[in-house]
Amino acid sequence: MLNEKVHFLLNQQINKEFYSAYLYLDFSNYFKARGLDGFANWYMVQAQEERDHAMLFYTYLQNENMSVTLDAIAKPDKVFTADMDVLKAGLEHELYVTSLINDIYAAAYEVKDFRTMQFLDWFVKEQGEEETNANDLISKMELFGSDPKSLYMLNNELAARVYTAPSLVL
Ligand code: FEO
Repeated sequence: MLNEKVHFLLNQQINKEFYSAYLYLDFSNYFKARGLDGFANWYMVQAQEERDHAMLFYTYLQNENMSVTLDAIAKPDKVFTADMDVLKAGLEHELYVTSLINDIYAAAYEVKDFRTMQFLDWFVKEQGEEETNANDLISKMELFGSDPKSLYMLNNELAARVYTAPSLVL
Protein backbone atom coordinates (compact mmCIF):
# COMPACT_ATOMS: atom_id res chain seq x y z
CA MET A 1 0.00 0.00 0.00
CA LEU A 2 1.57 3.25 -1.10
CA ASN A 3 1.32 6.47 0.83
CA GLU A 4 -1.48 8.71 -0.51
CA LYS A 5 0.79 11.56 -1.60
CA VAL A 6 3.33 9.20 -3.20
CA HIS A 7 0.47 7.46 -5.03
CA PHE A 8 -0.94 10.79 -6.23
CA LEU A 9 2.43 12.01 -7.50
CA LEU A 10 3.27 8.72 -9.24
CA ASN A 11 -0.12 8.73 -10.93
CA GLN A 12 0.27 12.36 -11.94
CA GLN A 13 3.64 11.52 -13.49
CA ILE A 14 1.95 9.18 -15.99
CA ASN A 15 0.17 12.23 -17.36
CA LYS A 16 3.30 14.40 -17.24
CA GLU A 17 5.27 11.84 -19.24
CA PHE A 18 2.53 11.42 -21.83
CA TYR A 19 2.41 15.21 -22.09
CA SER A 20 6.19 15.15 -22.65
CA ALA A 21 5.64 12.70 -25.52
CA TYR A 22 2.96 14.99 -26.92
CA LEU A 23 5.22 18.03 -26.57
CA TYR A 24 8.09 16.33 -28.39
CA LEU A 25 5.75 15.15 -31.14
CA ASP A 26 4.85 18.80 -31.56
CA PHE A 27 8.55 19.69 -31.77
CA SER A 28 9.05 16.91 -34.32
CA ASN A 29 6.16 18.27 -36.32
CA TYR A 30 7.69 21.76 -36.24
CA PHE A 31 10.98 20.50 -37.67
CA LYS A 32 9.27 18.30 -40.24
CA ALA A 33 7.50 21.38 -41.56
CA ARG A 34 10.86 23.20 -41.64
CA GLY A 35 12.33 20.42 -43.79
CA LEU A 36 14.80 19.42 -41.07
CA ASP A 37 14.05 15.69 -41.00
CA GLY A 38 16.98 14.85 -38.72
CA PHE A 39 15.74 17.17 -35.99
CA ALA A 40 12.24 15.79 -36.54
CA ASN A 41 13.60 12.27 -36.08
CA TRP A 42 15.49 13.24 -32.92
CA TYR A 43 12.32 14.55 -31.28
CA MET A 44 10.27 11.63 -32.56
CA VAL A 45 12.63 9.23 -30.78
CA GLN A 46 12.42 11.46 -27.71
CA ALA A 47 8.62 11.22 -27.84
CA GLN A 48 8.87 7.42 -27.95
CA GLU A 49 11.10 7.45 -24.87
CA GLU A 50 8.59 9.64 -23.03
CA ARG A 51 5.79 7.22 -23.81
CA ASP A 52 7.97 4.49 -22.29
CA HIS A 53 8.47 6.60 -19.17
CA ALA A 54 4.70 7.00 -18.82
CA MET A 55 4.22 3.25 -19.13
CA LEU A 56 6.84 2.56 -16.48
CA PHE A 57 4.90 4.67 -13.95
CA TYR A 58 1.65 3.03 -15.08
CA THR A 59 3.09 -0.47 -14.67
CA TYR A 60 4.72 0.33 -11.34
CA LEU A 61 1.38 1.41 -9.87
CA GLN A 62 -0.35 -1.67 -11.26
CA ASN A 63 2.37 -3.92 -9.84
CA GLU A 64 1.85 -2.29 -6.47
CA ASN A 65 -1.90 -2.98 -6.73
CA MET A 66 -2.59 0.75 -6.73
CA SER A 67 -5.27 2.44 -8.82
CA VAL A 68 -4.34 4.23 -12.04
CA THR A 69 -6.32 7.28 -13.13
CA LEU A 70 -5.74 8.63 -16.62
CA ASP A 71 -6.32 12.34 -17.05
CA ALA A 72 -6.65 14.52 -20.15
CA ILE A 73 -3.34 15.36 -21.82
CA ALA A 74 -2.77 19.09 -22.17
CA LYS A 75 -2.34 20.69 -25.58
CA PRO A 76 1.20 21.77 -26.46
CA ASP A 77 0.43 25.41 -27.15
CA LYS A 78 3.74 27.12 -27.82
CA VAL A 79 4.17 28.67 -31.26
CA PHE A 80 7.79 28.75 -32.34
CA THR A 81 9.37 31.14 -34.78
CA ALA A 82 13.00 30.08 -34.35
CA ASP A 83 14.66 26.64 -34.23
CA MET A 84 16.70 27.53 -31.16
CA ASP A 85 13.52 28.39 -29.23
CA VAL A 86 12.34 24.81 -29.66
CA LEU A 87 15.62 23.42 -28.34
CA LYS A 88 15.54 25.77 -25.36
CA ALA A 89 11.93 24.85 -24.61
CA GLY A 90 13.08 21.21 -24.58
CA LEU A 91 15.74 21.91 -21.99
CA GLU A 92 13.34 23.96 -19.90
CA HIS A 93 10.84 21.11 -20.00
CA GLU A 94 13.43 18.53 -18.92
CA LEU A 95 14.46 20.71 -15.97
CA TYR A 96 10.78 20.83 -14.99
CA VAL A 97 10.48 17.04 -15.26
CA THR A 98 13.58 16.65 -13.11
CA SER A 99 11.91 18.78 -10.45
CA LEU A 100 8.83 16.54 -10.61
CA ILE A 101 10.90 13.37 -10.20
CA ASN A 102 12.72 14.99 -7.28
CA ASP A 103 9.37 15.87 -5.67
CA ILE A 104 8.18 12.26 -5.88
CA TYR A 105 11.50 11.07 -4.50
CA ALA A 106 11.24 13.51 -1.60
CA ALA A 107 7.70 12.32 -0.81
CA ALA A 108 8.83 8.67 -0.87
CA TYR A 109 11.86 9.48 1.28
CA GLU A 110 9.63 11.23 3.80
CA VAL A 111 7.64 8.04 4.46
CA LYS A 112 10.60 5.63 4.05
CA ASP A 113 9.11 4.12 0.90
CA PHE A 114 12.35 2.45 -0.17
CA ARG A 115 10.80 0.48 -3.01
CA THR A 116 9.52 3.62 -4.73
CA MET A 117 12.87 5.31 -4.14
CA GLN A 118 14.61 2.38 -5.81
CA PHE A 119 12.16 2.55 -8.73
CA LEU A 120 12.82 6.29 -9.06
CA ASP A 121 16.61 5.87 -9.02
CA TRP A 122 16.48 4.97 -12.72
CA PHE A 123 14.58 8.19 -13.46
CA VAL A 124 17.00 10.31 -11.45
CA LYS A 125 19.82 9.03 -13.67
CA GLU A 126 17.69 9.28 -16.81
CA GLN A 127 16.89 12.94 -16.11
CA GLY A 128 20.60 13.68 -15.88
CA GLU A 129 21.02 12.19 -19.35
CA GLU A 130 17.99 14.03 -20.71
CA GLU A 131 19.32 17.36 -19.48
CA THR A 132 22.76 16.62 -20.95
CA ASN A 133 21.22 15.71 -24.32
CA ALA A 134 19.14 18.88 -24.40
CA ASN A 135 22.15 21.01 -23.42
CA ASP A 136 24.38 19.35 -26.03
CA LEU A 137 21.84 20.02 -28.73
CA ILE A 138 21.72 23.71 -27.80
CA SER A 139 25.55 23.92 -27.80
CA LYS A 140 25.76 22.32 -31.25
CA MET A 141 23.09 24.63 -32.59
CA GLU A 142 24.89 27.66 -31.19
CA LEU A 143 28.11 26.53 -32.85
CA PHE A 144 26.78 25.37 -36.21
CA GLY A 145 23.16 26.47 -36.61
CA SER A 146 23.79 29.76 -38.40
CA ASP A 147 25.77 28.18 -41.25
CA PRO A 148 23.56 26.29 -43.76
CA LYS A 149 26.18 23.63 -44.56
CA SER A 150 26.85 22.95 -40.89
CA LEU A 151 23.14 22.87 -40.13
CA TYR A 152 22.74 20.30 -42.91
CA MET A 153 25.44 18.14 -41.31
CA LEU A 154 23.95 18.52 -37.84
CA ASN A 155 20.58 17.56 -39.28
CA ASN A 156 22.18 14.42 -40.75
CA GLU A 157 23.75 13.57 -37.40
CA LEU A 158 20.38 13.83 -35.66
CA ALA A 159 18.78 11.66 -38.34
CA ALA A 160 20.91 8.77 -37.05
CA ARG A 161 19.30 8.65 -33.61
CA VAL A 162 17.44 5.38 -33.18
CA TYR A 163 14.91 4.37 -30.59
CA THR A 164 15.97 1.84 -27.99
CA ALA A 165 13.70 0.42 -25.32
CA PRO A 166 14.38 1.61 -21.76
CA SER A 167 16.93 -0.33 -19.72
CA LEU A 168 14.46 -0.46 -16.83
CA VAL A 169 12.05 -3.38 -17.09
CA LEU A 170 9.25 -3.87 -14.56
FE1 FEO B 1 10.53 11.48 -19.19
FE2 FEO B 1 12.26 13.58 -20.71
O1 FEO B 1 11.60 12.92 -19.10
